[in-house]
Amino acid sequence: MTALLEVKDLTKAFGTVKAVDGIHFTIAEGHCVALLGPNGAGKTTTIRMIAGLLKQTSGQMVFKGAGNRGEHRELIGYLPQTPSFHNWMTGFEFVVYAGQLCGLTSAEAKKSAKELVERVGIAGAAKRRIGSYSGGMKQRLGLAQALVHRPKLLVMDEPVSALDPIGRREVLDLLRELKRETTVLFSTHVLHDAEALCDDVIIIREGKVALQGAIETIRDERRKPIINLQLENDESSRQWLALFIQTIRDEKRLANQLSLFETAEQHEGAASFAVKDVDAARQLLIGEMARNQIKISKLEVGHSSLEDLFMKVVGE
Ligand SMILES: Nc1ncnc2c1ncn2[C@@H]1O[C@H](COP(=O)(O)OP(=O)(O)OP(=O)(O)O)[C@@H](O)[C@H]1O
Ligand SMILES: [Mg+2]
Repeated sequence: MTALLEVKDLTKAFGTVKAVDGIHFTIAEGHCVALLGPNGAGKTTTIRMIAGLLKQTSGQMVFKGAGNRGEHRELIGYLPQTPSFHNWMTGFEFVVYAGQLCGLTSAEAKKSAKELVERVGIAGAAKRRIGSYSGGMKQRLGLAQALVHRPKLLVMDEPVSALDPIGRREVLDLLRELKRETTVLFSTHVLHDAEALCDDVIIIREGKVALQGAIETIRDERRKPIINLQLENDESSRQWLALFIQTIRDEKRLANQLSLFETAEQHEGAASFAVKDVDAARQLLIGEMARNQIKISKLEVGHSSLEDLFMKVVGE
């Protein structure tokens, strides 16, 4: 694995607020990485520092291929959370203009712009004014603009959050293609979007990295067997369930056996147990229910999802 970007102990303070608080991570060349976190976690602040638009309070970013002065802006293509365009320009003119701002000659910028409007699927509208574009088209234009100088790393801040479901799918499909050609870092607060696209995930919360790694590894390592139980609408069965869960939590009685259950949650007549050993836990549960003549309507074995993990990591 070659690291394209190493972020070391990066911190940004706004007055007394530490928006980003000593984060470390590595972006491997060719990977697609999601920076995932709830509102206010520090995603935009992190991305703006990487894009060179915001100076860090402390810490470093080491870019493979950066010049002697550590100058890495030209290696990055950046799509902001809320891009603003000159609505009176045409899409094509805007991409050419962005290319020239990045140091391309007029001819180079035109050549690249022509390819890119094609690539992102707005060639048919490239001669129209941006003011007439839909949200999805503007986001595609934003991508063309970010890619015009052939950056090594494409950095996007919430690239699909503002779009309607159709625009969202269009842009996700496009990103799925683009990530084959370039290294990508994008932020999102939606786990689903991270799962749909990325190889690696960095979950941040209150400016700190809460969890990071390859999404497959996290999924495999953190997946726990779950037993879901549903009882009939019966007062004494529900009372038994409440008591059973209380006992698990207290671990007073049968402590050694009940430690089969790692967590237990009850929602009225339903419960969900994270367990270590499905067979043993299931047997114990069924035995207890039979003994107490509990009216079961459903018992189901499954696995905790990445969503459960995400909620746990960001909600703790
Ligand atoms: N210019 C600023 N001045 C003061 N505080 C700021 C500034 N920019 C961000 N913050 C604070 O830093 C924290 C992180 O903000 P940031 O915008 O990076 O979060 P985010 O993860 O991008 O959130 P969202 O999902 O809402 O876009 C927040 O508490 C925010 O209020
Ligand atoms: Mg943000």
